Amino acid sequence: MFRLESPRLYLRPLESQDVPAFAAYRSDPEIARYQGWGTPFTEEQAEEFIEQQKAVTPGEIGQWLQLGMELKEGGQLIGDVAFHIIKDSHRQVEIGMTLSAPYQGQGYGTEAVTELVRYLFEELSIHRVFANCDPDNLPAHRLLERVGFRREGCFVESLWYKGGWASELWFALLEREWKALHP
Ligand SMILES: CC(C)(COP(=O)(O)OP(=O)(O)OC[C@H]1O[C@@H](n2cnc3c(N)ncnc32)[C@H](O)[C@@H]1OP(=O)(O)O)[C@@H](O)C(=O)NCCC(=O)NCCS
Repeated sequence: MFRLESPRLYLRPLESQDVPAFAAYRSDPEIARYQGWGTPFTEEQAEEFIEQQKAVTPGEIGQWLQLGMELKEGGQLIGDVAFHIIKDSHRQVEIGMTLSAPYQGQGYGTEAVTELVRYLFEELSIHRVFANCDPDNLPAHRLLERVGFRREGCFVESLWYKGGWASELWFALLEREWKALHP
């Protein structure tokens, strides 16, 4: 089975047993605030999502792959990271991340994104990894900057989102920048 590993976490595809935890943290309105789904996020939706994910192969171009963050100690699912190798973009990847509220503020998100980005650059030879955040989503900005991402620019009111216009702040990290940070 595909699995990445960081000091405290395993990153691995979501499984049927994750349904209750996945539905629970996606149902938190604070977690969903800047994300594409609405709340509540039911167990039926979680089950359907995880079933669809089972058809995605790690490294497959043009598909989002969600990797659960599993605590090595205790086996709890505490969040997920996701990546999408953009079709016809010559080795560029968009990423996203979500962490259940009780597990925020302890560096798990930074640890998971660092390992995901390492995998993308060092094992898949990706050229550029990027992420899109709401300008008000400060914890996400801080996380990305801790990993080494640069702020690239802001598209103003460029996204119709949950009944209003949202702006998009873009962050990116290049393979050569990653190598300079991790010689
Ligand atoms: C984005 C998100 C994952 C960030 O979570 P987070 O807990 O702030 O990030 P981390 O897990 O990396 O923890 C970092 C925080 O823990 C602190 N910390 C404590 N122990 C730490 C350790 N061992 N290593 C690193 N940081 C540690 C850091 O100082 C930092 O706090 P600060 O940002 O106030 O300085 C979280 O806010 C979230 O899930 N939001 C909802 C979903 C979302 O909006 N996703 C982003 C879409 S772009």
